[in-house]
Amino acid sequence: MRQGLEELRRKAIQDIQTAKDSEALNQIRVKVLGKKGSLTTILRGMGALAPEERPVIGELANRIREELESALEEQSRVIAEQEQNARLAREEIDIFLPGRKMKIGHPHPLQLVLEEIEEIFLGMGFTIAEGPEIETDYYNFEALNLPKDHPARDMQDSLYITPEVLLRTHTSPVQVRTMEKLWPNPIRIIAPGRVYRRDALDASHSPMFHQVEGLLVDEGITFGDLKGVLTVFAKKLFGEDRQVRFRPSFFPFTEPSAEVDVSCGCSGKGCRICKGAGWLEILGSGSVNPMVLRMSKYDPDKVSGFAFGMGVERIAILKYGINDIRLFYENDARFLAQF
Ligand code: PHE
Repeated sequence: MRQGLEELRRKAIQDIQTAKDSEALNQIRVKVLGKKGSLTTILRGMGALAPEERPVIGELANRIREELESALEEQSRVIAEQEQNARLAREEIDIFLPGRKMKIGHPHPLQLVLEEIEEIFLGMGFTIAEGPEIETDYYNFEALNLPKDHPARDMQDSLYITPEVLLRTHTSPVQVRTMEKLWPNPIRIIAPGRVYRRDALDASHSPMFHQVEGLLVDEGITFGDLKGVLTVFAKKLFGEDRQVRFRPSFFPFTEPSAEVDVSCGCSGKGCRICKGAGWLEILGSGSVNPMVLRMSKYDPDKVSGFAFGMGVERIAILKYGINDIRLFYENDARFLAQF
C-alpha cells in the first residue's frame, strides 16, 4: 500500500506540473482527490492493514494529500500567470505605431482659378453679380441683340426647356439683368457661373462648363479702358512677362469686338498647349453695343461700356497644361491633389 501511495504521488505530481490549463488541472484534482478519486480509493483499502500500520499509512496519505493540494495550487498560479501574459500580449497596443494619415480635402482646380480671377477683378473695383442658370430667350438672346432668326444664335447650340425657356448658353444674360437692376447707375461687375450647350462630352467639349462675365458701364468709357483692364487681368493671371494682343472678332452684343490672346509660356517655340501658335486665346470682349444699352434703358449718347466673357475651364487648361476637360468633372483625387 505504501508503494501504491508513493506511485500515485509521483504520477499525480508529474500530471499537475505538466497541466496546460486550469481545465486540465481541475480534471486531475477530481481524478486523484475527488470522492471517487484514486487516493480515496486506496485509503478505502486501509481496513485490511494491520492495526499498527494504519496510523503510519494514514499519516503518509495525509501528507500526500497536502502535498498534492499545494502542487495544484502552485500550478494553478503558474497557469493563471501564463494565461494573463498571453492575453496581455494579444491585447498589446503599440503606441509608437504611426497613425493612419487622414486624407485632407483639396480645393478643386476650377475653384482655385475662379478665385484667382475674382481676386484680380475685385482688386480693380468690380463686384460680383449672379443670375439664374434657367433663363428666358429674352435675356439669353433677344436683349443681347440676337433676335429670333439671327444667324449668330447658331454660334451656341442651345438646350431649350420650352420655346421661351432654356439653360443659359453663356453668362451674358447677367449683363442684361444687372443693367435692369442698376439703371441708371454706373456698373462694374463680374458674373461667374455655369453655362450649358448642346455638345457631347469629349476631351475638349462639355455640355456644362463655367464662364466669368464682365460688364462695365459709365460715362466716357472707351475701347482703351477695355484694353487696359484686360491687359492688367491677363498679365496678373498668366504672368507679367506675357504679351497680350487684341484680335478683331464679332459678337452681336459688342461693337467693336475683340478676342484676347496671351503669349504662350513656350514663348513661340511651339508646344502642346498652344499647338505651335505661340498665342493662347483666353476671352471674348468688346465695347457694349449701343443697341444693347438702349434695350436696357441706358442712353448710349450719355454712357458707354465694355463687356467680356471667358471660360473658366479653358483658362485652367491653358494655365496648368491640362489636356482633357473631362478631368475636371471626374474628381479623381490623384488629379485634384496636384493643384
Ligand atoms: N458670351 C460670349 C460667349 O459665350 C463671350 C463674350 C462676352 C463676348 C461678353 C463678348 C462680350 O462666347
